[in-house]
Amino acid sequence: MNLIHTKTRWVCASTACTSLLLVGAIACGSSQQSGEPAASPEAPPAEASATEASSESAAPDAPAAGASASSEGGRQIEVPLQAKSGSTLAGSATLTETAEGVKVELTLEHVTPGDHGAHVHEKGDCSAPDGASAGGHFNPSASPHALPVSDPRHLGDLGNINVAADGSGKIEIVAPGANLKDGDPNSFLGKAIIVHEKKDDGGQPTGNAGGRIGCGEIKASS
Ligand code: CU
Ligand code: ZN
Repeated sequence: MNLIHTKTRWVCASTACTSLLLVGAIACGSSQQSGEPAASPEAPPAEASATEASSESAAPDAPAAGASASSEGGRQIEVPLQAKSGSTLAGSATLTETAEGVKVELTLEHVTPGDHGAHVHEKGDCSAPDGASAGGHFNPSASPHALPVSDPRHLGDLGNINVAADGSGKIEIVAPGANLKDGDPNSFLGKAIIVHEKKDDGGQPTGNAGGRIGCGEIKASS
């Protein structure tokens, strides 16, 4: 399935989408919407962030997936979450560019009930077993940590997601002023979403939310 998607998208990217990225993404996306979002093939070839500069010359299987155009026309990225620190967490986040900022829809399963801090962290690297490779909170404005909707706060401060007794949880929050552009200082592209073992209490420096039980790399390709 991934092979098919990858191949389809590559063909699309190298023909229709090359010169008119947005139009191409929409046009190509419309024929591919039935696929699962994580494998959606609409990523135009110039999606790569500064940290993924090799993408445009990479092999066809390199820029697999994640980004597309939402119904609002802004970029949309599907972020699968990886379990970290020995957790059983499963879930995903959908990030959508809106006029106000980036809308984050976070869905979790198999997590201990209660509140769990959630943030965008500064590095799009979930490779470490404890998620430490994602670095600290994404904070381009050098603000103190805080809970939404306090202002100022870290741009990556998403607050808490409440997990019910059945282990599932869902939140939708807009990070005002954030975007998913390539190379923009306020872009979530190339960062990571982290879910913590404990509640973010808003304290300094990062909310006392404990270990990292879930991590998802925010990237236009995978
Ligand atoms: Cu965090
Ligand atoms: Zn923070």
